[in-house]
Amino acid sequence: MKISISLGGSLLPREGTPETYQRYAQVLRKLKERGHTLIVVCGGGKPAREWIKIAKELGADSYTQDRLGIHATHLNALLLIAALGPDAHPHIHRRGSEVKRNLGDRILVGGGHLPGSSTDYRAVLFAEAAGADLIINATDVDGVYDKNPKSHPDAIKLDRITFPQLERIILENTEQAPGEYGLFDLKAVRRAKKLRIPLVFIDGSDPEEIMRAVEGGHGGTEVR
Ligand code: UTP
Repeated sequence: MKISISLGGSLLPREGTPETYQRYAQVLRKLKERGHTLIVVCGGGKPAREWIKIAKELGADSYTQDRLGIHATHLNALLLIAALGPDAHPHIHRRGSEVKRNLGDRILVGGGHLPGSSTDYRAVLFAEAAGADLIINATDVDGVYDKNPKSHPDAIKLDRITFPQLERIILENTEQAPGEYGLFDLKAVRRAKKLRIPLVFIDGSDPEEIMRAVEGGHGGTEVR
């Protein structure tokens, strides 16, 4: 299978130990050995938000704020490339054309590209470029809820939903601004819907969930 993974920045903490990256590398390597073709886009997470906050306080415009976020995604991408060693292509992938060109034996790792966007959107564009069968969104939440579970303790987790249902949940629950894409970038959802590529949301804080998202038995949410 060809799989594009959005590895949320929340899973890749700046103060994290090398083990964080090694654990993801181990699972990705296992999937590669089982014959899967992988593209992994790293998010910016907390460091991105911290740099964006400082830039905001300095009076930077949103274009500059986004550029800082993009740099943060590239730092995480480089660390994952380092953890994967020879199993990864050494380039930080930013464009679909690069993914198309380099798709092969090695795992492709990418980060952000254009201001005003997100790594979620990159993951969908890379899925399109690769002709992927599946997009995985790995974050620190174990699936899609009808409301934001961090602020609503009564939120209900949904096992299977449609793309229009996901769009509605995102519109009702998240702000679309630099550093604030929340559950999943709405633009990315709309593109995945158009491409008809299934999207799976999983709790990536357990890297084995990535394996289960591919081979079955995950505890997240499937969107079709
Ligand atoms: P992310 O897309 O990683 O956002 O990029 P995030 O909020 O940390 O989401 P997760 O949890 O990792 O999935 C961090 C910031 O970098 C900018 C945006 O401001 C984004 O919020 N960015 C990123 C871009 O402007 N363009 C990109 O292609 C990627």
